[in-house]
Amino acid sequence: MDLSTEIAGICFKNPLLPAAGPLTGDDSKIEYIASLGVGGIVTKTISTQPAHVPRPCIVATRDYVVNAELWSEYGPEKWIDEFLPKIQDIELPKIISIGYTKEQIEWLIPRLTESADAFEISTHYVGKDITPIAKITSIATKLTKKPVFMKLSPHIPDPVEFARAVTDAGAAGVVAINSLGPVYHVEPKLGRSPLGSKDGYGWISGPLIKPLALSIVRKIKQSLDIPVIGVGGIKDAGDVVDFLEAGASAVGMLSSALIFGKEQYKRILDGLEDVLRRRGYSSVRGAIGRKLEREEARYEVRNPVIDEEKCTLCKLCEYVCPYFAIRVSDHVEVDSKACFGCGLCESRCPTRAISGILS
Ligand SMILES: Cc1cc2nc3c(=O)[nH]c(=O)nc-3n(C[C@H](O)[C@H](O)[C@H](O)COP(=O)(O)O)c2cc1C
Repeated sequence: MDLSTEIAGICFKNPLLPAAGPLTGDDSKIEYIASLGVGGIVTKTISTQPAHVPRPCIVATRDYVVNAELWSEYGPEKWIDEFLPKIQDIELPKIISIGYTKEQIEWLIPRLTESADAFEISTHYVGKDITPIAKITSIATKLTKKPVFMKLSPHIPDPVEFARAVTDAGAAGVVAINSLGPVYHVEPKLGRSPLGSKDGYGWISGPLIKPLALSIVRKIKQSLDIPVIGVGGIKDAGDVVDFLEAGASAVGMLSSALIFGKEQYKRILDGLEDVLRRRGYSSVRGAIGRKLEREEARYEVRNPVIDEEKCTLCKLCEYVCPYFAIRVSDHVEVDSKACFGCGLCESRCPTRAISGILS
């Protein structure tokens, strides 16, 4: 099956990229991640000064990661003189992530452009105002012939406006989304945040943020015909295809590799063909943007239908029903007057014995 995809004239052998972060933080880490089969490389964000990173800086549960990592702990000279020359032989497109201010971008791009197939510019610490971000984009795109992707942080109030402003200013596309926050994670054994950052705040990412990331990618693609790299909460091949169907041309993943292990990149790639085939696609490109239709709100109430062969009488539907409409004895009884048709029972049924509302 053809897993390749193309963005701004760059061909990727498959759509799964490592999102900017510690796993692409120097040449040896990049080499290891490349060996897992990813379609391209996105470096840790490089700025004009090394980041002074508080420790501890990463904590995770099964559902999310909270980090206080800032950008690369190595200065640009180390990247230019040491790391980037060492990864030149890796035959994958290399997207160099840089940040943040106009002055920093002006300093960085001329020195990095030779090593880059494209740039990703982080706007994470630039604030919520789109005007300076558009200005940075326009400066960046004048300094290099390589495509420039602008990375959207979810605290930007209007993602579509962001995407429109940066592409009008010359960006080749948008990367959506960065981590969300600031957030405060309490470590149970401490009763407080374990992070070394000021007051313990950090940025949240991982499976928990997937619905937000997906909604932002969809909103952008429903309004604008521009390339989007979808990032946020991907943990398996099904998630990758969800982002492709929402219009992403490629995807980035980081937190699930921190939660489940770095081999998650390989596991996802191993399962990708199968998921695409099951959803009726014969290529990655064939899946892109296939679930973008807008739908009107619906108000018709439908009651759950119980498949008694599949039902194990576990009672979860009764326990969770917020309208007190289900009783389970030696069978499942639905009070059709009390049932609000909300769909929760169907979404929570562990044996898929309930249908008729969501489906
Ligand atoms: C530990 C850590 C470090 C990160 N560092 C960067 C960074 O240097 N530059 C950047 O643009 N995003 C950075 N991110 C954000 C990720 O690239 C990504 O946008 C975000 O985590 C959402 O994707 P995910 O849920 O797959 O992790 C970092 C995230 C984490 C968890």
